[in-house]
Amino acid sequence: MLLLPLVLLAVLFPAGDNQDASRTLEWHHSTPAEPLTFRIVHITSFANHSWAHTQLSAWLGELQTHAWDNVSDTIRFEKPWSHGYFSKEQWKKLQALFQLFIHGFPREVQNFASQFQFDYPFVLQISSGCTMQPGKAYKSFLNGAYQGLDLLSFQGSSWEPAPGSGRRAQNVCRVLNQYLIIKEIVHSLLSDTCPRFLAGLLEAGKSELERQVKPEVWLSSGPSPGPGHLQLVCHVSGFHPKPVWVMWMRGDQEQAGTRYSDILPNADETWYLRATLDVAAGQTAGLSCRVKHSSLGGHDIVIHWAGGHSLLPTLMCLTVVVALAMVILQACWRKQSSNKSVLSPYMPNSAFPMEAKAQDPKSPAHQLYLAQESWIKARIRMWKISLNQ
Ligand SMILES: *[C@@H]1O[C@H](CO)[C@@H](O)[C@H](O)[C@H]1NC(C)=O
Ligand SMILES: *[C@@H]1O[C@H](CO)[C@@H](O)[C@H](O)[C@H]1NC(C)=O
Repeated sequence: MLLLPLVLLAVLFPAGDNQDASRTLEWHHSTPAEPLTFRIVHITSFANHSWAHTQLSAWLGELQTHAWDNVSDTIRFEKPWSHGYFSKEQWKKLQALFQLFIHGFPREVQNFASQFQFDYPFVLQISSGCTMQPGKAYKSFLNGAYQGLDLLSFQGSSWEPAPGSGRRAQNVCRVLNQYLIIKEIVHSLLSDTCPRFLAGLLEAGKSELERQVKPEVWLSSGPSPGPGHLQLVCHVSGFHPKPVWVMWMRGDQEQAGTRYSDILPNADETWYLRATLDVAAGQTAGLSCRVKHSSLGGHDIVIHWAGGHSLLPTLMCLTVVVALAMVILQACWRKQSSNKSVLSPYMPNSAFPMEAKAQDPKSPAHQLYLAQESWIKARIRMWKISLNQ
């Protein structure tokens, strides 16, 4: 029977088994406009009738809170506050439930594969959880996908095929809906257990979730969008939480042509965003990048585009010029010093330039060098003779 292990849940983890329910009432989030979602992501890949691999992880918004450790077969808590306000006893029961589910689910699916027209190899994904909405209302969800396409969802208290998912989904739902006890358990997990856990998690993780980190902002120019045009890039990095407002401005005028990258994660659980603006090369006067973020306490960051070119290309040009100048100076100095050593009568032969010795003996340069050398030797001889006289 599909999802049979869930039946045990009724025994292991009955609804209302939480002494900390009152905490829900105390909980308060600073940005109620941002609904926060706790989500369990479950992916099982089926290679054939006898091989399947399952991955399970849990997320609060963008933060991973739990993972399934498939070596020790236990829940791994990714954050110090991932336990929320569930007791050790409750976690033991949840872990036992997931162990049953993780080992039982692939077997049951493989038993039903031909009846459900699941063709190997295939992937099943389940995303389930609950969302805290403004006004502390909770909304729960469970969606299932086959080969990356929506297959079914749990609505109210029964399984429903996803719109446009066809006969396979109808068939799966018809079978699943026959198991009343499973529907009751799923309903209880989604509408009772999940919201209670989420409320506790939001409170336990409050300091990290409400962490405020100020962005760093800098400008650069991007690849030229065309002849006579510049791309100005405003980089905003290292901020938390994720919501941010970034705009290219000319004076007080928002520039509607501002375009954005995705908000990308940094390794330290802060965020990065770039905003670009394409402008004609002569039209950069008065442009600035303005950033609003909750960490800035109303003091926006404003960085002005400096005179049509940013510091970086200037620095790079300067570096090239300095490097070139050094190369030329060094070459001149070498030439001088090698001339000196050639002309100095006190220099022994080993002081002649190494390059000259390594040269092809037939090359004109080498011939010239030999001629120079013999001329100098002749001069030295003459000088010695004149000294002796
Ligand atoms: C099932 O798939 C696994 C992984 O691809 C493979 O190693 C195994 O040989 C397959 N078994 C059968 C019976 O095809
Ligand atoms: C655990 O998962 C990894 C990949 O996520 C897999 O390579 C490994 O074989 C799994 N180990 C067990 C014992 O299932």
